[in-house]
Amino acid sequence: MAFLRSFIITLAIMAPSFKLLANAAVTPRSNKCSVWYDVLKDIQNEVFDGSKCGEEAHESIRLAFHDAISYSPRLGGGGADGSIMMYPEIETKYAENAGLDDIVHRQRPFALKHGVSFGDIIQFANAVALSNCEGGPRVPFYAGRSNYSQPSPDNLVPAPFHSVDQILGRMSEVGFDSDEVVALLAAHSVAAQDQQDTSMKGSPLDSTPSVFDGQFYLETMTNSPPEGVFRIPADRLFATDPRTVCLWQTFVDDHNSMVNQFSRAMVKLAAVGQDHASLYDCSEAIPAPRRLRNHRPKFPYGQSAKHVHYKCTEASFPQAKLNHDSSPVPPVQKS
Ligand SMILES: *[C@@H]1O[C@H](CO)[C@@H](O)[C@H](O)[C@H]1NC(C)=O
Repeated sequence: MAFLRSFIITLAIMAPSFKLLANAAVTPRSNKCSVWYDVLKDIQNEVFDGSKCGEEAHESIRLAFHDAISYSPRLGGGGADGSIMMYPEIETKYAENAGLDDIVHRQRPFALKHGVSFGDIIQFANAVALSNCEGGPRVPFYAGRSNYSQPSPDNLVPAPFHSVDQILGRMSEVGFDSDEVVALLAAHSVAAQDQQDTSMKGSPLDSTPSVFDGQFYLETMTNSPPEGVFRIPADRLFATDPRTVCLWQTFVDDHNSMVNQFSRAMVKLAAVGQDHASLYDCSEAIPAPRRLRNHRPKFPYGQSAKHVHYKCTEASFPQAKLNHDSSPVPPVQKS
């Protein structure tokens, strides 16, 4: 026993990558969570095209937000209860859920095959999708949501054209403050749009849509986005609002804060409408994300700090590289 313990300690103080291996080697799969390893294998192969951070990962992250946020103490809805997968013919018709029917129908067969609830698979697929993105968070995953749900009311999901006041108001109904909203918007660093502008289908929301990084925060602060990138009006409002600009700017080059604050907010989001104490921790099944290779963000071609008109005045502007590549950012292809 003493030997084993010192062996583990020795491994733990070696390089961080060894620590991950040590964890994987010494943590036995708990029986309660073993089904999630099977779900993981299936969705990595069949939904995420072999652990990619592409279109299906982006849509899975979006799906988790749309399912969970659909709760209001005034209007109803069950939050992260899987209702969008239980009643896709109702909920995917809502304007803000446009385009989610594909991913709902990609994930659903694996919930049925493995006998896990719709609410659980949506949050699990989100955590796996995020782990597929370079620099992504390893969001803890809690299982045990009931499979029971009712259709959520419409108009609970913040819209791309909403004001900061509207979005903060909606989010505070569910218990999120403005810092948490800014952190949750990190999801837009691994995202693309199809429905907002159908003439630029697949256009990403930043120039690195398969990397969970600060490019999104930087590119929404500059006067115009890089060519080929789609800018959501509400993102621009958050990037320039005096109430949110300072944290926004912090996330441009503080990847640790971005990841940690996003993860915390995400765990909270995944439990909206649920009794968190009745869920159990199956984070062990979530893969370790690929590490971020490039921490230094890059301005859009032809722009620099001069092209950021609304800055946080309480901190110096983050160091970012100039971009010498004028080629447009390519759209995200469906696999
Ligand atoms: C969840 O509900 C669907 C639809 O009624 C059903 O087919 C499925 O078996 C249920 N899953 C679980 C885990 O109960």
